Amino acid sequence: MDITVNKTKSLKGTIQIPADKSITHRAFMFSALTKGKVRITNFSKGADCMSTLNIIKQLGCKSEFINEKQLIIDAREALKAPIEALDCGNSGTTTRLMMGILSGQNFNSKLYGDISLSKRPMKRVISPLELMGAKIKHNDYKLPIEIEGTTLQGINYSSPLASAQVKSCILLAGLNAQGKTIFSEPYKSRNHTELMFEYMGANIKINRNEICIKKSQLNPVDIEICGDISSAAFFMVAGLIIPNSEITIKNVGINETRSGIIDVLKSMNGNIELVNERIISNEKVADIKVKYSQLKATTIEGGIIPRLIDEIPIIAVAATQAEGTTIIKDAQDLRNKEADRITAVKTELKKLGANIEETNDGFIINGKTNLIGDCEIKCYHDHRIAMSAYIAGLICEKPIKINEFQWVNISFPEFLELINHLK
Ligand code: S3P
Repeated sequence: MDITVNKTKSLKGTIQIPADKSITHRAFMFSALTKGKVRITNFSKGADCMSTLNIIKQLGCKSEFINEKQLIIDAREALKAPIEALDCGNSGTTTRLMMGILSGQNFNSKLYGDISLSKRPMKRVISPLELMGAKIKHNDYKLPIEIEGTTLQGINYSSPLASAQVKSCILLAGLNAQGKTIFSEPYKSRNHTELMFEYMGANIKINRNEICIKKSQLNPVDIEICGDISSAAFFMVAGLIIPNSEITIKNVGINETRSGIIDVLKSMNGNIELVNERIISNEKVADIKVKYSQLKATTIEGGIIPRLIDEIPIIAVAATQAEGTTIIKDAQDLRNKEADRITAVKTELKKLGANIEETNDGFIINGKTNLIGDCEIKCYHDHRIAMSAYIAGLICEKPIKINEFQWVNISFPEFLELINHLK
């Protein structure tokens, strides 16, 4: 589906953001491990989370949709050998976390994915899993892979990467391994796995960046999922860069391991206010109010990167509207996402008229630039590139066309409906 985006005068109003994708993956997978029934309220309907749901169904879970917002996972008969190979679609989180679960089962399984996922690196999880005794067949550490289920041993692993997918994979393997598993990482990545494990009664201890987990059974407790800050990010930036805009985004997860975007946009002089702070299923939540602001440039590097890794494409759009030079460093893992997000963002924003250069681990962006548009944008099978380009299109002088905009459905099928509500 190709779409045309026209300049808009302002975005105004209140929206409810759909459920967090990372937390939904975990809610589905961890429910599958409870041997009980779990009611999940407000789950992501994006294709990535549906890949996870389909996989746990192939492993013996039943799912029952109560209504638009609620679903029950019945895992009383899970987990059992899948009859067919498991399709991870476009989802790195599904693949890497499921590998942690499947490696320690008493059955074999096969995982595969789409073209983009089949190019993404899996060594980061295969190597530590092998240290735990996992038996994984692969070609150059890429999908498709075959897992021969076996008994795993706990390890003490210092990850070279700050990656929540690696951490969650190893913690999931540790949950079912003999002895204890200790995991540490250079900077703290998103901690939804740790918070949900605590919430579901796992034997887990957290000491700053070091986590210790012992074999334990998760309890079937009901889970409510907050709105996704990574989806809210598009509306936060839109509200800040489109003149006269004023947007309230309700029910957004503001977990400190995810809220780097708020810190950065505030440091860029963004008018952002958090109200109604509360806790839902062990996760911090708030309503976020944003108003059009005169942005200024910033530098983003080091420990904040894992706290905003998925938001960098839309932060780059904000930087084109900020006075001065914005520098983004230490984000080389962006090249391993659904697309090479460094080259993709640079190439597409340049087409719009931005002054942006890529470095090996980030960007140098000079602002403020008047974006012209009048071009065709590619989204590289990448939902976040598609939505970032759309928001940029709303301030371009001339219309832009975005090719294959349907990739938005990977994480945020409701995106256009919410934009139209605010126009
Ligand atoms: C995710 C972790 C991040 C993020 C991805 C979702 C997760 O990846 O980019 O979209 O749910 O654990 P890394 O942890 O590999 O950086």
